[in-house]
Amino acid sequence: MPNIAVLAGDGIGREIVPQAVETLKLIATKYKHEFEFTEALVSEDAYEKYGHPLPPQTLEVCKQSDAVLLGAVGSPKMDQLPPKLRPERAALLPLRKELGLYANLRPVIVYDVLVDASTLKPEIVKGVDILTFRELTGGLYFGSKKRATLADGTEEAVDTLVYNTKEIERIVRLAFEAAHARRKKLTSVDKANVLESSRLWRETVIKIASEYPDVELNHMYVDNCAMQLVRWPAQFDVIVTENMFGDILTDQASMLTGSLGMLASASIGGNVALYEPAHGSAPDIAGQNLANPLATILSAAMMLRYSFKLEREASAIENAVRQVLTDGYRTADIMAEGCQKIGTKEMGAMVRAKL
Ligand code: IPM
Ligand code: MG
Repeated sequence: MPNIAVLAGDGIGREIVPQAVETLKLIATKYKHEFEFTEALVSEDAYEKYGHPLPPQTLEVCKQSDAVLLGAVGSPKMDQLPPKLRPERAALLPLRKELGLYANLRPVIVYDVLVDASTLKPEIVKGVDILTFRELTGGLYFGSKKRATLADGTEEAVDTLVYNTKEIERIVRLAFEAAHARRKKLTSVDKANVLESSRLWRETVIKIASEYPDVELNHMYVDNCAMQLVRWPAQFDVIVTENMFGDILTDQASMLTGSLGMLASASIGGNVALYEPAHGSAPDIAGQNLANPLATILSAAMMLRYSFKLEREASAIENAVRQVLTDGYRTADIMAEGCQKIGTKEMGAMVRAKL
């Protein structure tokens, strides 16, 4: 029986995760599976109880599970702590590292019914279907960091950007495989005109490309990619890039769908995969039944597909989401004229009703 670790985390994580869990429970009943859910504390709750945002107990629950469902971390209270205890740096990043999750898949799919929800023109976003592979356990976010005070009193801060060929090869291979199974176009994003790590990235991509002769490869500088994503997003099929570029570009790309609240993600590479919405804990709207649960529900669908190989069940959730949106139900972030605004719980219930 698959065991799912459930880490709701902070802010809206506490509202959206239960909606995804209920959806998984319904799938279990309907398709005769048994999922076991084990809740564990992360970030603020964990800090209050155990003095650390990622206590060993929580890490153990994740390692013993078959998949992890995570909400979001980050809260005003945790923001007051020294950087070493902040949940982004002390919980989320170490969790990804400990589980060996080097590849973060973020699909940006623009549903036809949501073309008007984007801030971009409908004809630009219509039909967009991009899969981004973001490297997740290397680069600037994990390199050594330090602070110093120079002789003249000036403060200095250093972050280090390190990549080796092994780290690059493994994610690039996954991206090529995905492109091969999709529309056979891969865009590798770097800043090879300036950064040494990007030059190594590009050389490595070129080497691996020879194994995938049927995939059309192109290289794009990150600044150009940011521009192309809003100019002509339909040109992209699969994108592969390093950690920070992927972090930034996927937030940007999410707006093609209308909202960050639609962006699901799967982090893979280790024995256990982790599924989480790409958005944060949104403390400003937390506890008000306003958050969009769809990114988390769609992340649960990715769990069914990638961790449990339940393609039919995953598609059922995705179709249910599509139908609810087609029926005109919207959370505030994707609200449009003529639609009906509903809350977090209602959106979750609507998706389950369609199932
Ligand atoms: C994300 C988030 C995190 C990241 C933050 C909260 C550390 O922005 O998952 O994209 O940068 O990876
Ligand atoms: Mg981010």
